[in-house]
Amino acid sequence: MKTVLITGAGIGIGRATALAFGKAGYRVIVTDILENEGAAVAEQIIASGGQAEFHALDVTSTEATDVLVAKLEADYGALDCLVANAGIAHKVPLTDLSDEKWDQTFDIDLKAMMRLVRAASPAMRAAGQGSVICLSSIMGVAYGWDEHVHYSAAKSGVVGLVRGLAVELAGDGLRVNGVAPGYIRTAQALSRQHSLGPEGLEKAADFIPMGRVGEPEDIADVILFLASDGARYMTGQTVAVDGGLLVGRY
Ligand SMILES: NC(=O)c1ccc[n+]([C@@H]2O[C@H](COP(=O)([O-])OP(=O)(O)OC[C@H]3O[C@@H](n4cnc5c(N)ncnc54)[C@H](O)[C@@H]3O)[C@@H](O)[C@H]2O)c1
Repeated sequence: MKTVLITGAGIGIGRATALAFGKAGYRVIVTDILENEGAAVAEQIIASGGQAEFHALDVTSTEATDVLVAKLEADYGALDCLVANAGIAHKVPLTDLSDEKWDQTFDIDLKAMMRLVRAASPAMRAAGQGSVICLSSIMGVAYGWDEHVHYSAAKSGVVGLVRGLAVELAGDGLRVNGVAPGYIRTAQALSRQHSLGPEGLEKAADFIPMGRVGEPEDIADVILFLASDGARYMTGQTVAVDGGLLVGRY
């Protein structure tokens, strides 16, 4: 049985991804700082006949990341797949953008991905196979986002991280790819304080060529594909999954 570790898997895209991998027969290691939500996702996978376990993990902790990866390797051997999904997108105008807020965003949205891959990749390399998927954003690959420059910058950084890791790890059979979601109906996008809010999200559907905002499952299925053998010759790419938003003319 293959084992996948997903960060930020208690809600949103991470949750949908955990459920999709569970259905596909993976042992799912659900991790999050949201303990009740994360535990509920693991229970749901088990209730549907799958295998899962929840572990509290704050991705900003190198020690906690290293300890969890070592425990999982002792229990199950090298991990087969990592989904670096945890992220924050706080709205802060440039004049209020403190060094601390910049650093916090980069720590969670970018550095944590390196932390996880650094911890898990030695055993994956020794096993000679594995797949890593990192969550970027259309705000990282194409759009600028006002009052979110720290987020845009970190999510652009994910594109470079994916490229660098892909080249460094390819010789040992590991593939590293990114997904850049468009507007997806999750707590992040539904936040009035930090993002579009429910009304803004509905309005966005008008200028998305496919005529609707994305659902978490729309992203989860692409992540599952990138982890699969169907994507065996693909590495270093960050794929936009946005209902045609970036290529649309409006
Ligand atoms: N929703 C969108 O429209 C959208 C668009 C582009 C990119 N994304 C990206 O997709 C990913 C998932 O986003 P989402 O919309 O599901 O967001 P969400 O806010 O619904 O979920 C984010 C998850 O990350 C977790 N998290 C936050 N800080 C953490 C930390 N320090 N340690 C561990 N977990 C932490 C949260 O607890 C939560 O479970 C993020 O990286 C986000 O930036 C989302």
